Amino acid sequence: MIIAANWKMNLNKQQAETHLRLTAQHPVHAIKNHQTILFLPACYLPLAEDIFGGGHDVMWGAQDCHHHDSGAFTGNISAEMILGFGGGWALAGHSERRQYHFEEDGLIAQKIIQGLKSGLKMMLCVGESEQERNDGKHFDIVGAQVKKICDAVKKAECNLFDIAIAYEPVWAIGTGKVATIAQIDEMHRMIQNSVAPHVEGEAGVPVLYGGSVNLDNAAEIFALPSVNGALVGGASLDAEKFAQLCAIAVQK
Ligand code: PGA
Repeated sequence: MIIAANWKMNLNKQQAETHLRLTAQHPVHAIKNHQTILFLPACYLPLAEDIFGGGHDVMWGAQDCHHHDSGAFTGNISAEMILGFGGGWALAGHSERRQYHFEEDGLIAQKIIQGLKSGLKMMLCVGESEQERNDGKHFDIVGAQVKKICDAVKKAECNLFDIAIAYEPVWAIGTGKVATIAQIDEMHRMIQNSVAPHVEGEAGVPVLYGGSVNLDNAAEIFALPSVNGALVGGASLDAEKFAQLCAIAVQK
């Protein structure tokens, strides 16, 4: 299981440092076959490198990465910059980037390709809005997001082996409205089936659930065979609670 924290734009420097130090000391993150990834605000990458650098089991990365390797792109960060501070991962296509930064699948695919070519692993976020689900279009929307990006990544001759997919229904993010077990399971299977032909002979692409995961609902969600992990926002901000979520995951 992969349990990934998405801090978004939260925690000041002192809080971030406290969290990272507690996380570094917590034994759950070092358990075999468990992977903890922290998606940090970019300014905390050096802090993570100082605390985890030199062979810690916890991995870290950024919440975005630009689709060019360098250039006049004020305010952006590149894959090389993330890698330079020991980051191994970046998110792409989070619904908040889609909503507030107007990112669409074409651009998201370019970011993933740029990240993969630079040596990052990339976590692609997909998910439908509440309206799309009410209209019964959720499979079409998520299926199209996955297909478009997988096709582009394959065409660019990058390895899908280095991506993970987070299914995050937009209506469940930060709302406390978690998707039902049946909704999660059917969507995860659809995603796994649509990626399978692209990753023949490989272990497959991990599919994580995200959207209001917390200590009360984690055990039920994590128990699903189709769930390979979780992308956790609000419940990842407290190091101890986040470690408890990871402890639930390792029981699988
Ligand atoms: P949430 O956020 O756990 O606070 O719903 C998840 C995410 O946006 O990745």
